[in-house]
Amino acid sequence: MKGKAEVIIGAQWGDEGKGRIVDALADRVDVVVRYQGGANAGHTVVVEGEKHVFHLLPSGMLYPGKTCVIGNGVVVDPDQFLAEIGELREKRKDKARLILSEASHVVMPYHKIIDEAEEKRRSKGRKIGTTKRGIGPCYADKVNRIGIRVGDLLDPDTLRAKIIENLEIKNLLLTRIFNMAPIPFDDLMEKALGWGQQMRPYIGDGTAIVNEALDKGSGVLFEGAQGTLLDIDHGTYPFVTSSSASAGGACIGTGIGPTRIDRVLGVAKAYCTRVGEGPFPTEELGEIGERLREAGGEYGATTGRPRRCGWLDMVALRYAVRVNGLGGIALTKLDVLTGLEEVKVCTRYEIDGKRHEILPSRLPEREDIRLHYESLKGWSEDISECRRIEDLPPEARDYVRFIEENCKVPVVLIGVGSGREQTILCGL
Ligand code: GDP
Ligand code: IMO
Ligand code: MG
Repeated sequence: MKGKAEVIIGAQWGDEGKGRIVDALADRVDVVVRYQGGANAGHTVVVEGEKHVFHLLPSGMLYPGKTCVIGNGVVVDPDQFLAEIGELREKRKDKARLILSEASHVVMPYHKIIDEAEEKRRSKGRKIGTTKRGIGPCYADKVNRIGIRVGDLLDPDTLRAKIIENLEIKNLLLTRIFNMAPIPFDDLMEKALGWGQQMRPYIGDGTAIVNEALDKGSGVLFEGAQGTLLDIDHGTYPFVTSSSASAGGACIGTGIGPTRIDRVLGVAKAYCTRVGEGPFPTEELGEIGERLREAGGEYGATTGRPRRCGWLDMVALRYAVRVNGLGGIALTKLDVLTGLEEVKVCTRYEIDGKRHEILPSRLPEREDIRLHYESLKGWSEDISECRRIEDLPPEARDYVRFIEENCKVPVVLIGVGSGREQTILCGL
């Protein structure tokens, strides 16, 4: 894959296994870049039985000789950044060179407080179920042009002016609306200067590094966070995150032109999960949902919350193919379906008597959607040791083929376990 730019995105509601796919493909490239989201992400990589969860750092950090970049589109919580780096260093696993874009925005302590307070104030049915990592309020400040950027942490005069400007409003909000204590300027200024000192060795021009790497023919992987249906524009608004989690975000969040992208790979679980509130048409509230949650270990990598589970939604997957221009699918967690007599896939919705094979841009309430399922035969053989598509039982192969035929995109990689080596490459 030398010289190529490949974008890896979540094709569902997040937690599809993007981290493990990036880890599986990172040895073929020179640079791995995170381009949006922040510490709301939790990307799990399992190497030789040891589990690593990346929140802010790119999932290529475990590879010696690679360059990892946190792009301008990411929102960076300095304490989380420093803790993650510190933890990796302690384990002697900080193998890659890390660059943090000076244009990325800083998640300030007030963003986290406001995130939590706003969520608490939302009435039933309006709650989003955020990760409370300050993501929404930080992106709101960025768009409102009052955000503090990582580069500002190195410039005390600019930093002082920006903190004063922000605290004027934030402290009114905290005290008058949320009935909370104000944040003292001196404490925050001191903290922010300290972050700047500690982060200085990593801060650089992310856009230049990524573009120069591509110019000289290096392979670059763009690691998406969250998923297509959590995208601020293309997701199930307002139950979404505050960034562009679909493929277009890779350009905005790094400063590469769209013409540089060679391929977009969508990561999809063999079933569906969602954590937090919002529409999830194929959610199974009974036994099947419970079975998938337990077999798949479906508990959030960031918040530990149980994930909502249900059958694969082809209508949503075709939508992900459309809005990301997917050239391939990495299908993860096929092993989790082992032992089910029957595997179901939702292949179309009916809304007001109209058939929808692709998710409409506005979803009605769940009770107004009629779901059409197709049933496939399950398999009982353990597939976790399979390494070639031919090793899979015929029913599992049929399931993969069914997905390819239904969304007209090849499945190029299959996950049969969480370990780095537990993958079947079938077209990469
Ligand atoms: P991400 O946010 O998209 O990177 O995904 P998460 O790390 O939040 O969640 C995926 C979970 O599934 C993690 O616990 C992974 O270790 C695990 N996982 C990923 N791929 C597979 C797979 O093919 N089989 C199984 N059994 N587990 C997997
Ligand atoms: P990764 O990268 C799954 C969800 C939250 C909530 C909504 C908004 O690991 O796939 P936010 O804190 O971003 O304002 O929350 O988005 N959410 C995720 N769900 N995986 C994630 O990341 C998520 N990041 C945010 O649960 O519903
Ligand atoms: Mg995750």
